[in-house]
Amino acid sequence: MALNDFDLVLFGGSGDLAMRKLLPAMYSRHVAGDLPPGARIICVGRHEWSTEDFLETVETTSKPHIKAPAELHYAEFIKRIMYVSLNATDVATYDALVAALRLDDSLTRIYYLATPPHLFSQICDNLSTTGLATPNSRVVLEKPLGRDLASARQINAEVGKVFAESQIYRIDHYLGKETVQNLLALRFGNILFEPLWRREWISDVQITIAEKIGVGNRMGYYDHSGALRDMLQNHLLQLLCIVAMEPPTSISPDAVRDAKLQVLRSLKKFTPTTLSQNIVRGQYRAGHVDGQPVPSYRDEPDAPERSSTETFVALKAEIDTWRWAGVPFYLRTGKRMADRLAEIVVRFKPIPHSIFNQPTSSFQPNSLVIRLQPDEGLSLNLMAKTPGDGMRLKQAELELDFREQFKTPRMDAYERLLLDVLRGQLTLFMRGDELEAAWEWIEPILDYWEQDDNNPTPYTSGTWGPAAASALIGRDGLQWREEVLPAD
Ligand code: BG6
Repeated sequence: MALNDFDLVLFGGSGDLAMRKLLPAMYSRHVAGDLPPGARIICVGRHEWSTEDFLETVETTSKPHIKAPAELHYAEFIKRIMYVSLNATDVATYDALVAALRLDDSLTRIYYLATPPHLFSQICDNLSTTGLATPNSRVVLEKPLGRDLASARQINAEVGKVFAESQIYRIDHYLGKETVQNLLALRFGNILFEPLWRREWISDVQITIAEKIGVGNRMGYYDHSGALRDMLQNHLLQLLCIVAMEPPTSISPDAVRDAKLQVLRSLKKFTPTTLSQNIVRGQYRAGHVDGQPVPSYRDEPDAPERSSTETFVALKAEIDTWRWAGVPFYLRTGKRMADRLAEIVVRFKPIPHSIFNQPTSSFQPNSLVIRLQPDEGLSLNLMAKTPGDGMRLKQAELELDFREQFKTPRMDAYERLLLDVLRGQLTLFMRGDELEAAWEWIEPILDYWEQDDNNPTPYTSGTWGPAAASALIGRDGLQWREEVLPAD
């Protein structure tokens, strides 16, 4: 679908996200020929820079994040960029933006708010006062979308005063990852899985997002957030929704978002007992990642001395529906872990009876592993006969490597999602009620941790987190996938 001419206004235009992700994503689309001649990117920031000054920063800060920049393309690409100096909270300074924008109703206008969330409401207000929030405008909201239910509601209400829900794009970049969309294809483009995708056949689901990196230079943000808010409330819950949702009637935004919302609303509420038993929080201590020594969280630059912010969280969730009652969903994420991986493991029930000379217990239950990172693919673990004499069965893997299978060039998650914003496709963005439902479920955990003055359990960097995380799943007689994998 060809794109309309557009003005993409990046608030936070000189910030980290714009430099690392958004401008490189737009460059790729420029090279791919997706951007129409009249597509412009207007970067907005507080620095009193000219466009030339700004482009110098782009050259040194953003260009290194572009994969294989080609000089000719790059020279053409930056002609699309303009810089506008503006104080987001001072409406008087918006004149410069009014002057920069083309006041043509046939153009698409997008305001991308890559700013701290406390500015969202003021920016929307100012866009409204200056007449810039036209009916054909769209607004993109970057996380964090609140830090609890009340603040998320406030963001929804305040942005909602200026923009209709159909104009609001709440980004969760995990939904832009190729494999997440492939999960939709797997579930609803094949007849094989859906009949088995329920409590009768599935024993449990594990969803892991493990990172090797630490907090880096983001302590200012991270220490007020922690793994629960930073990763679980959004990315992990979105993955859970896509795994667990009922078949939507179509891929249209509301059909998919209604189905996800139903999952979020069906999550079993935590009780005092499950709060204390089914959640593990941890914080990394010094250790080694890839053989290199790394410091403790509390020794990272700008870390508060006795910070009790968690860098790891694991929990057991349950979904109270006919499809999923009694099936545990184990969610886990952490920084400074043993490996970088994001994957969903769907484990099926064991066979009921062995007809072979092997006990039933020697049969590994089938499992489907959906890998998002570092490589993208699927593996279906099956029992197969080992070659040769006799009838011995062993686990074998049916492997689908998306990179091998489809040689077409990949798109980064932001690239994909930005294209969707430009095309006006809302399916991969969260709706306001979804956002609130996710916070509503998370909130008792936040409250519990506030009352509880125990610090998170320390874990050594370069491991899979606190031992309590293994105990959490171990109580149900299960293990995390890497605990059962044969060592390399
Ligand atoms: C971001 C979090 O949303 O996702 C970061 O704020 C995290 O803390 C990042 O590192 C992980 O994303 P990805 O795509 O690298 O797995």
